[in-house]
Amino acid sequence: MTLLRRYFGIMVLFQNRVPMAAAYKLAVQGHLTTGRTGFGGTCQHRSVRSFLTDIVNNQARLCAMKRGALIVFEGGDHSGKTTQCTKLIHAFESAGEKVKLFKFPDRTSTIGQMINNYLGSKCEIEDHSVHLLFSANRWEKQPRMMELLESGTTLIVDRYAFSGVAFTAAKPGFAIEWCKQPDIGLPRPDLVCFLTLDTEAAAKRGTFGGERYERTDFQKKVMNNFEKLKDSTWKEIDADKSIDDLHKEILDLATTTMASVAQNPIEKLWMPDDTETKCKM
Ligand SMILES: Nc1ncnc2c1ncn2[C@@H]1O[C@H](COP(=O)(O)OP(=O)(O)OP(=O)(O)O)[C@@H](O)[C@H]1O
Ligand SMILES: [Mg+2]
Repeated sequence: MTLLRRYFGIMVLFQNRVPMAAAYKLAVQGHLTTGRTGFGGTCQHRSVRSFLTDIVNNQARLCAMKRGALIVFEGGDHSGKTTQCTKLIHAFESAGEKVKLFKFPDRTSTIGQMINNYLGSKCEIEDHSVHLLFSANRWEKQPRMMELLESGTTLIVDRYAFSGVAFTAAKPGFAIEWCKQPDIGLPRPDLVCFLTLDTEAAAKRGTFGGERYERTDFQKKVMNNFEKLKDSTWKEIDADKSIDDLHKEILDLATTTMASVAQNPIEKLWMPDDTETKCKM
């Protein structure tokens, strides 16, 4: 056991400092030297060697595992977010990629039903409280989102925390910094596809006024707030194009992102030491 512990210690010590092959070589050399002077039996050599090989193989498997990308769609009402999310999911599924669609607010949960009633003007909820409900609706999905991302599934998300902040901060008396607080620590998107379309053009794509926030003047304030939330993960996409042209542009961006983040850790949104994601006030 002492011998095994020694080799395991060597592996742990070196695995983050030298390449895997070098760590393996060092550990095996150490084992052979100690083996000759101490426990030189052939049988023990084999069992220790296979123990080490297992560790190295497991490490290699972990390194080869890819995580999924978190791709978020934001933009004004009727800019084409849902249309593009659906097309992207279909394209990736056809290509055999592991993908899953999330949509916020998720109206299926108990919290989501309260939000649904609020948006449909079936009930009144105090503005601060409803902001926290929207955030809670994202947090209740966070464990599943993390599980999927870590297991290599790419998530396509129709609206996220940025909408939560941009909408509440468009109401009188709400500061962007306050609005961001409850969403701090959610998984940070790898790519935000921000679809821009002027509000008049958006209004031509469908009727406004059905839900609580669908008013042109309110939408303009929301769009101004989005501008203050942009960081390097955002790609502004002119949505005044055909559905297919937009799809090609977005598919290209999403594919590049998936490849580039596959080995990176999943970051957290708006963490205090994250200077890059601090909002522009
Ligand atoms: N590029 C496009 N050109 C013309 N019409 C479009 C385009 N993209 C979407 N549409 C149409 O505009 C309407 C709104 O599209 P969609 O529901 O995808 O927008 P959205 O951004 O998800 O809206 P919401 O914010 O209300 O959820 C739909 O009728 C859709 O078919
Ligand atoms: Mg939509």
